[in-house]
Amino acid sequence: MIYPVVWQNNSVLLIDQTRLPNEYEVVEIHSSEDMARAIKTMIVRGAPAIGVAAAYGMYLGAREIEISDTPEESLRDRQEFLQQLDKVAQLLRATRPTAVNLFWAISRMLKTAHESLGTVAQIKENLLQTAQAIQAEDLQTCQAIGDNGLAVLPKTPNKLTLLTHCNAGALATAGYGTALGVVRSAWREGRLERLFADETRPRLQGAKLTTWECVQEGIPVNLITDNMAAHCMQQGLIDAVVVGADRIAANGDTANKIGTYSLAIVAKAHNVPFFVAAPLSTIDFELSDGSQIPIEERDPVEIYQVGDTILTPQGVEFYNPAFDVTPANLITAIITETGAFAPGNLANAQIQPVAR
Ligand code: MRU
Repeated sequence: MIYPVVWQNNSVLLIDQTRLPNEYEVVEIHSSEDMARAIKTMIVRGAPAIGVAAAYGMYLGAREIEISDTPEESLRDRQEFLQQLDKVAQLLRATRPTAVNLFWAISRMLKTAHESLGTVAQIKENLLQTAQAIQAEDLQTCQAIGDNGLAVLPKTPNKLTLLTHCNAGALATAGYGTALGVVRSAWREGRLERLFADETRPRLQGAKLTTWECVQEGIPVNLITDNMAAHCMQQGLIDAVVVGADRIAANGDTANKIGTYSLAIVAKAHNVPFFVAAPLSTIDFELSDGSQIPIEERDPVEIYQVGDTILTPQGVEFYNPAFDVTPANLITAIITETGAFAPGNLANAQIQPVAR
């Protein structure tokens, strides 16, 4: 199994996802500043993994707060600690704007701190436990999403060929993955023929990370460039599309890696079912629709430079949105840990018992 975030010997170990697949390097994170940098530079990436990393970042930040923690001054110590912890939250929140799991995990950590009784030392201990719980729950959640996906994948006489975009795999979560979780479960059950993976310009998460995960596990994978998907569907090669999500609005509109929207349009045009696989922590019930989802813009260098080669002449201007929003009407179902739901029926996702 691949675990992108590991808590070990009082620090966090991250697989450096900017170096895969050519180099497998593990980075040690000891402070909240280092964690914020790792999220911003995409050493760790993918909505649920960012949430897990941010939760540990909150603990590392809490650990750095030096408070005398005297029994006589416990109320004042506690208030000062909570104020400083808010600054850690601000630092981590400022890293990436689109994936709601980041904000969700930070809020959950703050809630733990505010609800903890006892000394500052005890609050710190509770924060570590909450970060570990967020990580363990995400792993279980992904396994449930994978298995719930089996119920909605097309029932065909032959094994399925699925298409995915970006990397919504173990690397993007606590482990197992969301969209790749569905792929893994289908493979385990003998229902998968092969996976087609979009390369996912500009950062190539599909080419570098999704294929790497498949190769690790012997899942047959064909890499295609993003502009080949329509042709593949026209040729009848694709039975269904499964992608992850960074933020889902209450009406089912879904922000995911740039290129997901055009893939959904192409799938609709070819009558290919289009599934979004995501944990409930990715649903932002405070946003009524996708127009309110903040879309991250990244450094244009991601577009104009490949390796050491500059692709464009001087004088070109750029636009580099990292995500787009797929309207709910293009989505067949949203697969969560509590089951698969029509995008317009997401409110029901919350009240189902958690699947095992
Ligand atoms: O910019 P990234 O690599 O963090 O974007 C990742 C995606 O868009 C994923 O599809 C999404 O976060 C879901 S990960 C389970």
